[in-house]
Amino acid sequence: MAEGHGFGKTILFGEHFVVYGLAGIAGGHKQKTIAKVEKSDKYELIDNRPATPDYKKEKLEEQKHSMELVFKKMGIDMEKTPVKITLEGDLKAASGVGASAANCVSVARALSEHFGMNLNDEQINEIGFEGEKGYHGKPSGIDNTVSTYGGLIWFKKGPPMEFEQIKTSAELNLVIANTGKTSSTTEVVGDVKKLKEEKPEEFEKIFREYETIALEARKAIESGDLKKLGELMNNNHELLQKITVSNSDLDTIVETARNAGALGAKMTGTGRGGLAFALAENSEMQETIAKAVEEKGFSTFKTIIGK
Ligand code: MEV
Repeated sequence: MAEGHGFGKTILFGEHFVVYGLAGIAGGHKQKTIAKVEKSDKYELIDNRPATPDYKKEKLEEQKHSMELVFKKMGIDMEKTPVKITLEGDLKAASGVGASAANCVSVARALSEHFGMNLNDEQINEIGFEGEKGYHGKPSGIDNTVSTYGGLIWFKKGPPMEFEQIKTSAELNLVIANTGKTSSTTEVVGDVKKLKEEKPEEFEKIFREYETIALEARKAIESGDLKKLGELMNNNHELLQKITVSNSDLDTIVETARNAGALGAKMTGTGRGGLAFALAENSEMQETIAKAVEEKGFSTFKTIIGK
């Protein structure tokens, strides 16, 4: 049986801003989606991924469209050469964790192996990007890039798309908290676009502030200055509030984590639901933060990014 993987991700800096060509920083998780592909007499997709309630149901149509885009890009005709695809792995599918990108990338890798295509990471990433269009019309490409390569990346949409692995000796201990609500990236990205058209000057100012944050954040990661990194995460969250993509659940998680001792906290990904995360100084602090956030009724998981 052919198998492929796609990493989950956390956008550390720059969700929404990357859509407008500004730099983003994202890290791959150790948690991933695994796709298994085997020959069958009809096309079938079995989704056994662990997931936030309703996530799979709400994303079903987008997932169907996304898979069609992946097959088309790979030149696979599911009528002539049908396969059964099974999705599994330890990445819990939810808004904000790069679940859609991990879905596309893992399937592209498994299909490449099944059909003997021998595609390299660059080609897998391009297919992942195409598949992401099924989930939202104009993805920046940050999610599929981290999902393909993992590690910590500095990303600019372009064109041409640019990305670099960020080298660091730092370990980012993160607590990721789930609002339990699924949001539509198409809708939220569309709302931000409208708001930007209504308030161009305000957005210009926010963009300039964000650019400074991103550059400083890269330096803080490279030099291992976690305290500074945490402050910059807080600043980035404030800008996301200004462009109306945070919500009360995300703000509660962020405040609770900060009060429990996090170095910084922000929402991540699309927003208006999905996930937020906190940076902890060490693994004990990770436990303390997770407990405080769970007491507010949100589920959490811990991950380490970097090194
Ligand atoms: C979604 O994970 C991140 C967004 O910036 C959209 C994108 O980059 O395509 C909101």
